[in-house]
Amino acid sequence: MSIKIPRGTQDILPGTVEKWQYIEEVAKDICRNFQYKEIRTPIFEHAELFTRGVGDTTDIVQKEMYTFKDRGDRDLSLRPEGTAAVVRSFVENKMFGHANQPVKLFYSGPMFRYERPQAGRYRQFVQFGVEALGSEDPAIDAEVISLAMSLYQAVGLKKLKLIVNSLGDNESRVAHREALIAHFKPRIEEFCTDCQTRLEKNPLRILDCKKDRNHELMATAPSILDYLNEESRSYFEKVQSYLSLMDVEFVVDPTLVRGLDYYNHTAFEIMSDAEGFGAITTLCGGGRYNGLVEEIGGPSTPGIGFALSIERLLAAVDAEEVELPVESKVDCYVVALGDQAKDYSVKIVSDLRKAGLSAERDYLDRKLKAQFKAADRVQARYVAVLGEEELSSGTINLKDMESGEQESIKISKLVEAIQER
Ligand code: HAM
Repeated sequence: MSIKIPRGTQDILPGTVEKWQYIEEVAKDICRNFQYKEIRTPIFEHAELFTRGVGDTTDIVQKEMYTFKDRGDRDLSLRPEGTAAVVRSFVENKMFGHANQPVKLFYSGPMFRYERPQAGRYRQFVQFGVEALGSEDPAIDAEVISLAMSLYQAVGLKKLKLIVNSLGDNESRVAHREALIAHFKPRIEEFCTDCQTRLEKNPLRILDCKKDRNHELMATAPSILDYLNEESRSYFEKVQSYLSLMDVEFVVDPTLVRGLDYYNHTAFEIMSDAEGFGAITTLCGGGRYNGLVEEIGGPSTPGIGFALSIERLLAAVDAEEVELPVESKVDCYVVALGDQAKDYSVKIVSDLRKAGLSAERDYLDRKLKAQFKAADRVQARYVAVLGEEELSSGTINLKDMESGEQESIKISKLVEAIQER
């Protein structure tokens, strides 16, 4: 029996991997523009980081973590998300003491969640995310949101919908929480068992329940926006006015609650509006988490960020039929005929590569015609043909594959000739 790839994971093969590289480059460029610096943290962390950070009432912690014991009997988890790990590193490396504040970071790497795989949902997926720590200025909320939108737009996506909400500060949340409990409690037995436990632990999560979403109490549930205190309300208004100043279009959606426990104030998601995108339309999610640094053992520090998966971004690229500018063209394919020419082509290809050009040759002892076909397949811009005759006269025949023009030039001038053109 042959061994297959684990469920919910995928191989990214040549031909597709170029798209990934392109997206990663665009993301890095945008982070440079916005002045976010890369951080790399481990793939696994102490399980407790996520139980405390992400929250023990969340689906991620309750059902989806890959947690295992190592040989030293430690509980470790493959990271299900990036924020808790970045915050751990922020605290551990005392970045709160750095001169340059706020600390603006980005990351990109695999995350792991034991979810039911379906289109757009994997057990290993790659998140690109940013975190800005140390500022409570609503302008940084707007900056983080516009960074995410800029990335999608730079890639060429148009059918996007940005939804924003405020979950308020602690005081607002407590008031809203009480209103939610009062609203659901009298009829909670009509809800699923998950919602019944959520009622006391985290009633906000009831609003996000997939099973009970059509229950009549859902539509009439108290809106967080009616429970925001003055400070939270004016904070949220500022965020919205900054988004408008930057011409970032958005819709306020008071039912947006997010699936992780650490959020307060701003929460947002970006969805794809593209036809035929599939059932899961959320491309990106994020928000503010002013209590998380303290929860993980650091000094009280505000933070905000988002994460998006490259898998869903590429699904949107396909759904909108965006052509990404990826090409893997070969500058020069060296065709050699005869044993001596073949031997010498080793040097020619090597010289081209040393000069920074992409070069390829035949390794299967193919005939002239088949070598030209191979050159076509790799989309060679030039083909240099070396036969025994050329070799003895120190020349090589250079063919421009776009114009069809051919020219005999000195072998020693080949690199120069291609660079000039
Ligand atoms: P999240 O909403 O759990 O938030 O995930 C963010 C994004 O990761 C989703 O919008 C989606 O694009 C992608 N994603 C999540 N699960 C999967 C999956 N199973 N397969 C494919 N893609 C997936 C967070 O992770 C937060 N850490 C975001 C954040 C950063 N908040 C503040 N800073």
